[in-house]
Amino acid sequence: MIKVDLTNIQSFLRLPYEAALSPRLRIAHSHLQQGDGLGGEFTGWVHLPQDYDRQEYDRIKAAARRIQSDSQALVVIGIGGSYLGARGVIDCLCSPNYNLKKKATPNVYFAGNGLAADALQEILELVEDEDFSVNVISKSGTTTEPAVAFRFFRAALEKKYGKEGARTRIYATTDKHRGALKSLADAEGWETFVVPDNVGGRYSVLTAVGLLPIAVAGVDVDALLRGAAQMMDRCAEASYDCPAWRYAAIRYELYRSGRSVELLACYDPAFRFMLEWWKQLYGESEGKDDKGLFPASVEFTADLHSMGQYIQEGKRLMFETVVRLGASQSRLAVPMDAGDGDGLNFLAGTDLDVIRERATEGTLLAHTEGGVPNIIVEADGKTPEGLGQLIYFFEYACGLSGYLLDVNPFDQPGVEAYKKNMFALLGKPGYEERKAELEARLKG
Ligand code: PA5
Repeated sequence: MIKVDLTNIQSFLRLPYEAALSPRLRIAHSHLQQGDGLGGEFTGWVHLPQDYDRQEYDRIKAAARRIQSDSQALVVIGIGGSYLGARGVIDCLCSPNYNLKKKATPNVYFAGNGLAADALQEILELVEDEDFSVNVISKSGTTTEPAVAFRFFRAALEKKYGKEGARTRIYATTDKHRGALKSLADAEGWETFVVPDNVGGRYSVLTAVGLLPIAVAGVDVDALLRGAAQMMDRCAEASYDCPAWRYAAIRYELYRSGRSVELLACYDPAFRFMLEWWKQLYGESEGKDDKGLFPASVEFTADLHSMGQYIQEGKRLMFETVVRLGASQSRLAVPMDAGDGDGLNFLAGTDLDVIRERATEGTLLAHTEGGVPNIIVEADGKTPEGLGQLIYFFEYACGLSGYLLDVNPFDQPGVEAYKKNMFALLGKPGYEERKAELEARLKG
């Protein structure tokens, strides 16, 4: 089970905070459990690991098996919460080089998460000579980036398999009733999966949004959900024994004491997209009403050679949360070299995990001495169950954190601003006035 180690924080906090924060955490916890706080209509994820639609879950697994049998590639089209979780889990459990590996499962490509023509063209070319399927994911069903990408991949499927053939290769994950994608899917007869009404995009990785692509990549989704359910039971406890309480409380206290940036760090490049997932989760949930920690991420040890300098000696505005995933699967001992030209024979025979462990400890001490408080999140292992626990842990702590800040952790009103401007500048009907105003501003 996940542990939150606060040993390297104590010297930074003057007052004991646990007792003082406890009543507020109790209220936040009750809001999450009862769904009666700000944005309470989006707390379906709280009980989701046990309370999910079993029939739909069976359909997800059946669809994954079908894709595995008839496709060499799956193109997952979605942005933000509609792709980061799946990408994070697949990278973490199957490898960031998953698509390059020899394997029995299809490649998984992620498209529609931006507007770069080259990125889109590349994936179109990669699947051109392959049998492929498409999972288009959008809760609202109206998000521009995935909708644009889907036009291209739908056309590619129809060109290759004809309209009828394409129909059996398109899987739409969207709202149960509303949105352009839902209407299109119903009209065209594509298989659909539901993003439940009470689960927002960034909390949706354990719904069909994440589970279908993750299952296609061969990850044991039963174990992923089992891990989440274990953490859900743990988080049902209203006490500091719950790791999510400890994490939410300490980061709130550090924020109150003047820290404005949280750096999430991991010593495994496979965790990179889980870091991205976490950034969206916390950034969109907390960053509003002029409040919130800025969520940033670093991938160690690579970033010790780029961001390490700033973390050690730059402006003292941050704290670090280090996720420790546990032992690697590979056992690699440094080879002996008779010449010892690089002077590394003192490490000969040492397992790489041991070297990484010393690097982790050395960095922790250096950063703490440099004035950067360090929280350690000890995961239960780089396994589906361990990752399921970690996902739920971060989600629950995020909900608690939002309520401690007195913000709605489940909306994202600020995301609309760029969309309105983009639509106006692109000449979308209904935006004429705004278009004229923006064009005048751009001309200066
Ligand atoms: O957390 C959220 O709700 C957002 O970040 C969405 O996930 C993102 O904007 C994509 O939205 P949609 O799934 O409606 O296309």
